[in-house]
Amino acid sequence: MAFTEPVLTKRIPLDASQRKLIGYDDYVATGGYKSLKQALEMPPADIIKTVTDSGLRGRGGAGFSAGQKWSFIPKEKKGPHYLCVNADESEPGTFKDRYLIDHDPHLLLEGIAIACLATQCDIAYIFIRGEYHYSAKVLEHALKEAYAHGIFGGDGVLGSGKKVECYVHRGAGAYICGEETGLLEALEGKRGWPRNKPPFPAIAGAFARPTVINNVETLMCVPHILERGPAWFKTMGTPSSPGPKLFGMSGHVNNPGVYEDELGITLDYAINKLAGGMKGGAYKASVCGGISMGILGTNQLDIKLDFDDVRFRGGCLGLGTAGMIVMNEHTDMVKALRNCVRFYAHESCGQCTPCREGSNWMRKILDRILDGDGKAADLQMLMELEKTMGIMPGTTICGLADGTAWATRTFINKFYDEFALRCPEAPTKTIPLKVSSGRLNVLTPMGSNTR
Ligand SMILES: Cc1cc2nc3c(=O)[nH]c(=O)nc-3n(C[C@H](O)[C@H](O)[C@H](O)COP(=O)(O)O)c2cc1C
Ligand code: SF4
Repeated sequence: MAFTEPVLTKRIPLDASQRKLIGYDDYVATGGYKSLKQALEMPPADIIKTVTDSGLRGRGGAGFSAGQKWSFIPKEKKGPHYLCVNADESEPGTFKDRYLIDHDPHLLLEGIAIACLATQCDIAYIFIRGEYHYSAKVLEHALKEAYAHGIFGGDGVLGSGKKVECYVHRGAGAYICGEETGLLEALEGKRGWPRNKPPFPAIAGAFARPTVINNVETLMCVPHILERGPAWFKTMGTPSSPGPKLFGMSGHVNNPGVYEDELGITLDYAINKLAGGMKGGAYKASVCGGISMGILGTNQLDIKLDFDDVRFRGGCLGLGTAGMIVMNEHTDMVKALRNCVRFYAHESCGQCTPCREGSNWMRKILDRILDGDGKAADLQMLMELEKTMGIMPGTTICGLADGTAWATRTFINKFYDEFALRCPEAPTKTIPLKVSSGRLNVLTPMGSNTR
């Protein structure tokens, strides 16, 4: 492991007062679009091999091999292929893609153009979260510059005859549109409801055509890999999780922000060296990669932030996007979990019963516990519910429900005493039965089930 210089943030100074938006001229003057020229000289299969050899794993959450994903796109073209760039970034604790786009948008555009050459995509759509107004404008301006300089449209990429069009598509602000097939539905102008798979997007994605879907940060690694080679990329990170990574640090730390380092740094290092240490009290817990991944506990500061250690030793779903929400000793874990579950209940698209009903049921139980009326059976019910929802138990279409489950599972497992204290054998207080809007709505069947 050796991280000696910034890679993805090489044009973005750590000192915020020095940061600026890198336009086309500055980008080219600092070596930009060199890798694209190189890619034009390579057969598509060689580009894919280079990316596969680098070991680059997707930075959007699942950590799937980028090169392998590209290789699934049919080599024989029978119609258009599409690239969808996932810039939806709506999970609490994640804000790294926005940081990259806001400062160095041409790095993304170069990554897009290379990915399109590798997978013979004709059109790229950058699907950006609705609330990212500024970032969308930055991208639209950068795209104008890129079109004017022959990167997209016209006579093909830099006059090569290999034509690629690129558009910014603004979402309407739903978390579920970050799930790749929900994104495809939304892009096609429909409600953002995830699709059952198979068929996978590589075979039938956008407009039922072969489609690659990649995260912003994943694509931004690609120009660097082409320029400096897979062996260089592997000098950073761990053998199974190579390369640089952005860590979004928020919560009770002195210097919240986005920091670049290599995969495999410890949680302790991320908090104390990158984010300036704890604020307001000693360390208690940290969301490890956006709240869907679950929570790392008090005794887990030595966990390596890579795709495997967080999962196998850390007991979480995975590293996710490495968006850490750090919590100090004064954090109420029951309240924190209720906030997470409230988010999932609100964002569930409603197609699958275990997700739609289960998450709302969980939210009501947690509300009741926080109202001082928790009992031991509530805790058992929460743990039973979390086991029934998600792709892993095979009851839902998409992974949003797994996020609900893993947050609940890891919060309760790792902070069991705190939950148990609020859930004694007999309820400490009985809330009078009343009709109220919102949290204590006892008139619904689910409400009466949970009281
Ligand atoms: C509920 C949900 C929300 C997601 N949101 C995002 C997102 O905002 N950005 C993203 O890149 N991936 C998100 N993903 C993961 C995508 O489905 C997909 O795996 C990813 O975009 C693939 O890109 P990558 O291989 O480059 O990581 C989400 C997944 C789920 C289940
Ligand atoms: S798991 Fe939840 S969000 Fe995903 S498709 Fe089913 S209901 Fe919708």
